[in-house]
Amino acid sequence: MHLHKYEKIWLVFGLGSLALFLLIIGFAAFWKGTHPQSHIETIDPQNVEAHESFKPENLGLREVADGKYIVNIVASAFNYDIGSDDAGKPVKTIRVPKGSTVLFQVTTKDVVHGFQVAGTNVNMMVEPGHISRLETVMKNAGEFTVVCNEYCGIGHHQMFATVEVYD
Ligand code: CUA
Repeated sequence: MHLHKYEKIWLVFGLGSLALFLLIIGFAAFWKGTHPQSHIETIDPQNVEAHESFKPENLGLREVADGKYIVNIVASAFNYDIGSDDAGKPVKTIRVPKGSTVLFQVTTKDVVHGFQVAGTNVNMMVEPGHISRLETVMKNAGEFTVVCNEYCGIGHHQMFATVEVYD
């Protein structure tokens, strides 16, 4: 069989780039691990309460400095636990003033969930065993819906909360 010179060149180029690509993927997946960079800290999904940030009394919104907030949330099928109000009712709305800096810290007790604040740049995957963190500035006033964008089971569509940014 005779191969044309250009055929050979492209064959070598094609196989070479495939090998290089697999090498890079393999390196990223197996050597370095595939977790997103925000997933630096690990946590025991069976006992998230043992972590200071996810103790029941520390869930929800907390102002840590002037205009700076932290929100701790535990996701589970099919709920976002954002703590409870003074009357003991579960909190479903996070209220912050416009322009505030908010650090969202989310973990999950069971399966992979999503945490997306629709209409903002907050969009995280929440994996058991990891703490997902994202800090953002709430530039626009309005009501933003928190949705789970990873299919997590029968009640997936019932997982939601609200972030209210007021003027
Ligand atoms: Cu939680 Cu989908």
